This record gives sequence, structure tokens and C-alpha cells, in this order.
Amino acid sequence: MIREFDIVNIISPFLEDHKKVLDIGCKNGRHLFPFEERGFELFAFDVTIKHKPKLISEYIKYKFDYKVSAPVERNEHFLKGEKEASLNIIDNETYLESFFPSSYKTFKKIDLNLVENNDFIAAKFEMKFDVILLINVLHFVKHELHGEFIRKIKALLNKEGILVLVFKSFKECMSDGTFEGMINLAPKIYKQKSSLNPKTYYLLDENDQQNILGEFDFVEEFNNEKWGKNERKFICRT
Ligand SMILES: C[S@@+](CC[C@H](N)C(=O)[O-])C[C@H]1O[C@@H](n2cnc3c(N)ncnc32)[C@H](O)[C@@H]1O
Repeated sequence: MIREFDIVNIISPFLEDHKKVLDIGCKNGRHLFPFEERGFELFAFDVTIKHKPKLISEYIKYKFDYKVSAPVERNEHFLKGEKEASLNIIDNETYLESFFPSSYKTFKKIDLNLVENNDFIAAKFEMKFDVILLINVLHFVKHELHGEFIRKIKALLNKEGILVLVFKSFKECMSDGTFEGMINLAPKIYKQKSSLNPKTYYLLDENDQQNILGEFDFVEEFNNEKWGKNERKFICRT
């Protein structure tokens, strides 16, 4: 079974000798765990600062295939194979350490080299990468910055490096009604109505998509039935 976040399997045919992976807009770092298992050096980057504490719960989900999604007192729910087992009594760290000590040991060794509170456009990098993940991030970046964002990624990729690019497509979002309840600020720009911290989406149409993909020598679209239907997903190589 391909897990929804297990991109490493999808790009596996291209992965020989690729050793450094950077996840831009990593949030809770979930995409990086399978890369760590493949011996990659991990680098994670996000503009916000609230995600670090969630790494362990994401790791638990990853290890146990989403059967456990929150701290649990006993592992009987997990052993019974119940999804969403959650008796919020002990914290994730105690849970993992108590019931799965060897997974806990592995988790403690994982280093995401996480940099938070840093906008990718403004950030300085002192190395290049073999794989860059930009998954559900670009549609939070203003349209006028998309070109700069992608050219910076291209410059950060080693020769034959891979960009995994996933973004929300204007056409698909319009046809599945995802944005119906949102405020339409301008063409392709939508803002959430009721949220403490409303997000603004800068959706990509076919033209935006072509401009971005045109920067790369090789582009292959991929699909996974578990992923959102209003997203387009590409492997791009320099
Ligand atoms: C929807 S989340 C996607 C998280 C992760 N890539 C995933 O697929 O689970 C979008 C993330 O992108 C980050 N982000 C948005 N704009 C960014 C920027 N300019 N530089 C770095 N991170 C950014 C946000 O803080 C957020 O954590």
C-alpha cells in the first residue's frame, strides 16, 4: 500500500545517489520520515514556528500507518486496529517510549535540521539539494512570486535534482466546490471566511502551471488516489 505521504516510493526510480532532501513548507515534517529510512540527510524549512512539537505525533502516525493519531493511554486500540484511537491521557513521547521503545529510539535519532520562522524567498542556503519537496505550499504564495520561488528552487537543486511539486489547481478547485464558502478576492485568489487565522489561496491555472513546469527539462505528472482530487502533482528534473 502506498501511503499518502510516502512520496519516496513514487520517485524511487529517480533516486539513485540522491542524498540530501529539503522539504520547503514542511509543517510537521511528515514527508521526510521515509527519506530518512532511505539514508537521506534531511533538511526542513517553514515560515511558521508552531510545528516542532507535532513531529512526534506525525512520526507515530507514520510508523503505525495512521491507526494511531493522538496520544493514547494503552495501545489496545492500536492493537485492535482501530483508527483514530485517542484517549488523551498521556503525551506522545511517553506513549511511544513506553509501548514502542525501539521506534522511540529511532525517532530520537532523526534530525530534520528544521529551520522555522523563515520565508523561503528571503532565506539564504549554503548548500544544494538532490530532492526538494514543495507540497501544498505554492498556492499560499502570491502569484507574482511564483516565478522567483521556482527559479530559486531550481538554483538550489544539484544536477539532475528532483523537485516534487504539488499544488491546488484552479480548474479542479472550481469544479469540486472546495472554495464555494470562501471570499473571492480577485481572479484565482480566495480567502477563508471563518477562521482565527484565515488562509489566502493563490490558485494556479493552466497558464501558471505551464510557466512553472517550463523551467524544467523533464516533467512527469503522478497520481495517487489517496491524495486530494483538486491537486496537481509533478516530478520535475533539471
Ligand atoms: C498546507 S501546509 C503543507 C505542509 C506540508 N508540505 C505537507 O504537505 O504536509 C503549507 C505550509 O507551507 C508553509 N509556507 C507557506 N509559505 C511559505 C514560505 N514562503 N516559506 C516557507 N514556508 C511556507 C506554511 O507555513 C505551512 O506550514
